[in-house]
Amino acid sequence: MREEVCEEAGRALLRWYDGQARVMPWRVGPQDRQRGVLPDPYHVWLSEVMLQQTTVAAVREYFRRFVALWPTVADLAAAEDAAVMGEWAGLGYYARARNLLACARAVVRDHGGRFPDTAEGLRSLPGVGPYTAAAVAAIAFDRPAVVVDGNVERVCARLFAVETPMPAAKPELVRLAGLLTPMARPGDHAQAMMDLGATVCTPRKPACEICPVMAYCQARRAGLAADLPRKLPKPAKPVRQGVVWVAMRPDGAVLLEDRPPRGLLGGMPGFPGDGWDGAGGAAPMQADWREVGGLRHTFTHFHLDLTVRAAIVEANPMRGAFVPRSAFQPANLPTLMRKVWDTATVRAVEWGATWP
Ligand code: ADE
Repeated sequence: MREEVCEEAGRALLRWYDGQARVMPWRVGPQDRQRGVLPDPYHVWLSEVMLQQTTVAAVREYFRRFVALWPTVADLAAAEDAAVMGEWAGLGYYARARNLLACARAVVRDHGGRFPDTAEGLRSLPGVGPYTAAAVAAIAFDRPAVVVDGNVERVCARLFAVETPMPAAKPELVRLAGLLTPMARPGDHAQAMMDLGATVCTPRKPACEICPVMAYCQARRAGLAADLPRKLPKPAKPVRQGVVWVAMRPDGAVLLEDRPPRGLLGGMPGFPGDGWDGAGGAAPMQADWREVGGLRHTFTHFHLDLTVRAAIVEANPMRGAFVPRSAFQPANLPTLMRKVWDTATVRAVEWGATWP
């Protein structure tokens, strides 16, 4: 596509965004933006980190809770680690929550509580990778940074009919996304690309008939839109095996331990496990352990098949600490640990344990 045609396509996309922009709690819509309203960089950054974990629909609620609890980056920087980890529960991938805190603290300590306003400056913050730096630079500071997420890759692969399979096509797609990025309203452009990918140029059954850039789309012309981007078949995820122990005292107190700071669910509270690395660690205490079920949890790179063992115990544990039933809140555990708890409680009731 020639440069003038790219510019034309970019203008068509912005006209569409002016009428169709999705409303999001962290977003300043195009009309407010034209009137000079600026987004809060803290909101933009927080939402982008959350959106790397899950959908816009799921992030809305997490975002609202975070900004209600911590209205500014300085408030977040001053928060207790455990409180932030607890609020993050369910979003997955706790390394991001730790980086979130490290980043908020770096903004306060090294930048006087203000986010750097260029992609390069943002990139120097802990946990801020090229995508987040570009997204925050564009959306919060209207810098012409090239913002490329999965949606943008798909839109570009189709607009320019890139037939190279993913992930090999990535560098080419970044170059093409750069050709589309305008000097005027780059923040709205970035969000328009994301909205187009999420609502029109969808992975399956793209709604080409209502697409604002249909006239420019080379894949559409070639009848290929739904087939792009091409992907190499994914290798199957490996399966790991592990054991997890749920110990309860007769008064209902539950044995929990914090996981090691690095690695799977690093630093998160949960039921003691055997390391889940195939090495076969020991139970946290001697007890009449009963196998109460199994479950599968899927991480980014593997499935984990866990055997759940449970027991009512009286002795002191070798690891972890008992948490009184009144203070135990399964909702604050990572999803995997909530599944473990559900498995243990359902089965324990079946075998008639005096399980509170
Ligand atoms: N996905 C990731 N970031 C987004 C944003 N700022 N707007 C819409 N969808 C997104």
